[in-house]
Amino acid sequence: MPLRTLESLGSLAGKRVIVRCDLNVPLKDGAITDDGRVRASLGTLDTLINEGARVIVISHLGRPDGEVKPEYSLAPVAQRLGELLGTSVGFAPETVGDETASAVHSLEDGQIIVLENLRFQAAETSKSDAERKAFAEQLAALGEAFVSDGFGVVHRKQASVYDLPRLLPSAAGSLITAELDVLERLTEKPERPYTVVLGGSKVSDKLGVIEHLLPRVDNLLIGGGMLFTFLAAQGHQVGKSLLESDQLERVRGYLRDAESRGIRLVLPTDVVVAESFSADAEHETVEASAIESTSFGASGIGLDIGPDTAKTFADIIASSKTVFWNGPMGVFEFDAFAAGTRVVADALTRVDGLGVVGGGDSASAVRALGFRDDQFGHISTGGGASLEFLEGKKLPGLEVLGW
Ligand code: 3PG
Repeated sequence: MPLRTLESLGSLAGKRVIVRCDLNVPLKDGAITDDGRVRASLGTLDTLINEGARVIVISHLGRPDGEVKPEYSLAPVAQRLGELLGTSVGFAPETVGDETASAVHSLEDGQIIVLENLRFQAAETSKSDAERKAFAEQLAALGEAFVSDGFGVVHRKQASVYDLPRLLPSAAGSLITAELDVLERLTEKPERPYTVVLGGSKVSDKLGVIEHLLPRVDNLLIGGGMLFTFLAAQGHQVGKSLLESDQLERVRGYLRDAESRGIRLVLPTDVVVAESFSADAEHETVEASAIESTSFGASGIGLDIGPDTAKTFADIIASSKTVFWNGPMGVFEFDAFAAGTRVVADALTRVDGLGVVGGGDSASAVRALGFRDDQFGHISTGGGASLEFLEGKKLPGLEVLGW
């Protein structure tokens, strides 16, 4: 069955429409540091407002674990949404309850309100079907139709993503359809050479995607904290760098698999090693096989790929026709260890084909490093979601919409 899209809901003028967005943005001291996900949500919201729907926006922010924690309030996000939409956006300080119901029922055509963080309610993320369903029923009572547009959360079997759409006429919004259009180009006959660049801290987060992609890509480039588990799997010492010892056997299997399939699994040849994990730490660049040869000895910590590696990665990326990148190459938040991520991002802007930045952290990284969204083929709003999509997994939030 094809995905149900907005048109399938017919006219929504005058109707109370609940829209599940992913407004999970990074905040620092209460200020939004990257509003990419808010911007990405504007298309569907604008369409509904212009059509005269009464729009009820719901979202999570962070992982408050079912407790009301003010630092995870969506209030600053609602304010930013108002600025970007150029209209006044209401805010309901309780996710559900009498006051919220009354605020929602007094909405007029074309008005919009944001409800407080869904994850302040433990039932949103509960493993119990009955608990999730009961919460979804409370949410459903607020609206007459449901639009799912939080692509970043479609891999979660949660009340607002999976249970709520079963209770109201429901469809996917334009962000979800736009994301799928691009991601399908990666899974269905990608133009070759097809290169995937993986970074970020943990191999264990990427196991599924590595396994699934190995037979499908031409080049798999490994950077970020997880590269050290690959180096250790090859028998190198890695000092105090991030290491997942319980994954060594598995990683050795990937290395063997890549070799027997003739896939280029490219590991760094040099790394930047620091004395400590801090922005102003002393650091040296050494060969990847000699991490403990710096003046910091066995206590050195690898915090970025080195310049030779960055150049190799950039050459492979820029000469590919399809590239997907998820996960920073180093600790880009510290200027001294941002070069690898910057070089990879820059190469991605030069791809003559489709270059996709996959995910929350990688998207924030490119913006923090001063790149513009329009320099890339696509910046996905989903980190975990885009990885699970590439893994070929069934995504609960899409299945429920007919996908
Ligand atoms: C994300 O940031 O990837 C999404 O908003 C989902 O958040 P979660 O990983 O906390 O479910």
